[in-house]
Amino acid sequence: MAQFYSFKVNQIKRETHDSVSISFDIDSKYSEEFKYIPGQYITIRVGVNGEDCRRSYSISSSRNEKLTIGIKKVPGGKVSNFMNEKLNIGDLVEISAPQGNFKLENIDSKNTRKFVAFAAGSGITPVLSMLKEVSQNEINSEFLLFYSNKTSKDVMFKDEIDDLKNQNISTRFIFTRENSDLELYNGRINESKALELIKSEMSFLNADAFYICGPEEMIFSTKSALESLGVNNEKIKFELFTAPVKKIEDSKEESLNIDFDGNSKITVICDDEEVEFDLNKDGDSILDAAMEQDLDVPFSCKGAVCCTCKAKITNGKVTMDANYALSDQEVEDGYILACQAHPATESVTVDFDF
Ligand code: FES
Repeated sequence: MAQFYSFKVNQIKRETHDSVSISFDIDSKYSEEFKYIPGQYITIRVGVNGEDCRRSYSISSSRNEKLTIGIKKVPGGKVSNFMNEKLNIGDLVEISAPQGNFKLENIDSKNTRKFVAFAAGSGITPVLSMLKEVSQNEINSEFLLFYSNKTSKDVMFKDEIDDLKNQNISTRFIFTRENSDLELYNGRINESKALELIKSEMSFLNADAFYICGPEEMIFSTKSALESLGVNNEKIKFELFTAPVKKIEDSKEESLNIDFDGNSKITVICDDEEVEFDLNKDGDSILDAAMEQDLDVPFSCKGAVCCTCKAKITNGKVTMDANYALSDQEVEDGYILACQAHPATESVTVDFDF
């Protein structure tokens, strides 16, 4: 269950015309809770026009800097616009402790390693944290970054990336609406572009991990390009930076329980409270239904991306509309994204306090 802490805004820096980075003063008494691995995110809770809004934002700072997040304005986005336009230094913001599965592997390894990242737009945020970590603590390791934007004016954290470039970090900027000198660096990252890019740096094909962060289409085409070159699936890590548009086909539902008529008795455990309610498999998600019962269940994106609504099934089964956050192992161990979950058995127990 996500707990929120109030911290002061220490710095706000305009990164581009539509994005800012925001640094916070984390009270030293919470330094344990706020330890993180580069790549992870925090969830913030703000009131916008009287509405309780929560959003997750990736951390861009290294572990020895003030905790900083990057926020790009989303058209019509209540929180991203509020944070870009209305927030002031000294304001208090409610933040939950860092979490997330997209993170730099074996963080304290002493070995020399190679990493590759493909980032698009604000998808650079968690990757920047990784780049800084490697440049500061893994002197002999190498990190190759492909960073795609519409134009050079849209590049977030430009100064910081440039400062890292001469060390063990190599950066290739790709533009979709501006011409670079090299044709290779022009155009959208689709499967053939991703193939061209990685083939131009074949010495990185044996990298220890490949991180992809951006919109859904770019993630899956890059993943598929890497797989076609023989990269082991386990080395490919990704984080979606827009809510997915596709739903995962789930054909398992029918085989789960053929006697199930669709009506289920749900028990939700949250903050040591236990609440029961009825829910149909074609109705609201378990998260929304629990909120209807006035339970303060954790959530952020409601789009299968952030993992904030992670819960454990201790009885029964569910299906999920989409899952872009949990690993196969987590699903096998009974974890679900409550924002995507619907009952598939007559009774289901969902534990947020797992
Ligand atoms: S609220 Fe983000 S994955 Fe469910």
